Amino acid sequence: MTKGRIFSGMQPSGKFHLGNYMGALENWVKLQHEYECFFSIVDWHALTSSYEDTSKIPERIHEMALDWLSAGLDPEKNVIFVQSHVKEHAELHLLLSMMTPLSWLERVPTYKDKLQQLGTQGKDINTYGFLGYPELMTADIILYKADTIPVGEDQLPHLELSREIVRRFNNLYQPIFPEPKPSLSKSAILPGIDGRKMSKSYGNEIPFAASPDELRARIRLMITDPNRVKRTDLGNPDVCTVYTFHKIFNAEHSSEISQSCRQATIGCVDCKKCLAEKMVSNLADIHIRRQELEKNPGRVKEILVFGSERARTVAAKTMDEVRQAMNL
Ligand code: ADP
Ligand code: NA
Repeated sequence: MTKGRIFSGMQPSGKFHLGNYMGALENWVKLQHEYECFFSIVDWHALTSSYEDTSKIPERIHEMALDWLSAGLDPEKNVIFVQSHVKEHAELHLLLSMMTPLSWLERVPTYKDKLQQLGTQGKDINTYGFLGYPELMTADIILYKADTIPVGEDQLPHLELSREIVRRFNNLYQPIFPEPKPSLSKSAILPGIDGRKMSKSYGNEIPFAASPDELRARIRLMITDPNRVKRTDLGNPDVCTVYTFHKIFNAEHSSEISQSCRQATIGCVDCKKCLAEKMVSNLADIHIRRQELEKNPGRVKEILVFGSERARTVAAKTMDEVRQAMNL
């Protein structure tokens, strides 16, 4: 049986955090053993919501490559590349934009939501590129004839639109492209240190790049049961963010922790220390790989050049077929 082919991308928007890792990257690391994977740092996509200041783009691309490689993505096994290094994405995006009715783009729910949200911030974001985001995403996917797309629930409408665009292309010209199917990843939302969803817009994140000491410092700031003031007060783990983290990162001891909290045989300080040491140990391999890579930025650059070359070979072949099908 031939392996399915995956395409997935992430915007290099900076400050990659543990929630981002748990939400997608951790899953990619598993998928790399089961599929042929194309993983792209989608820098053009990042421009759709933030185009004014582009000075940090190179640094953010480098950081994201470090995040991916330290997480354990294998640059030999997977094609790891930067979107803007493969210009075929732009050509296919243009051609798809010619055949996609505007109404299809305008009805995407995230478009309307985001427009409203950003409108209130006084940002002029209603650009052509912002509306056309799903068009570029479709080009990303089908350039590699990917058939399996790992997505969260919120991205399903985008992928449905991609499938419509693919059907239209295949009907109008030649049936070149497989319809990309979603592979729904049911990862839980990781809370931040204040208990709300971990998000860079809340400032409650634990950076994925955190060193052991930074990790410990962030955990010390975590919100616990607000009614447990004194060390002798009985705690309620159900309202404690530290306990939520124990359930995720220290599952085998979480019932013990829960009991000790309720009986006040462990205090919040020690409970945090215990969590911190467990997380430091869980993330040790990732930390070691990052340190190695940070010593060798040239190696990271090489990996991206190598990946872009491999991506371009596949993309160029697809574009030959597309041009032929469209008589261009
Ligand atoms: P942020 O909220 O920090 O701006 P993004 O919206 O850029 O994060 O999210 C990028 C990706 O990371 C998405 O796939 C999203 O589902 C995932 N993600 C973000 N925050 C979390 C979280 N707290 N828990 C799990 N996944 C998350
Ligand atoms: Na967000």
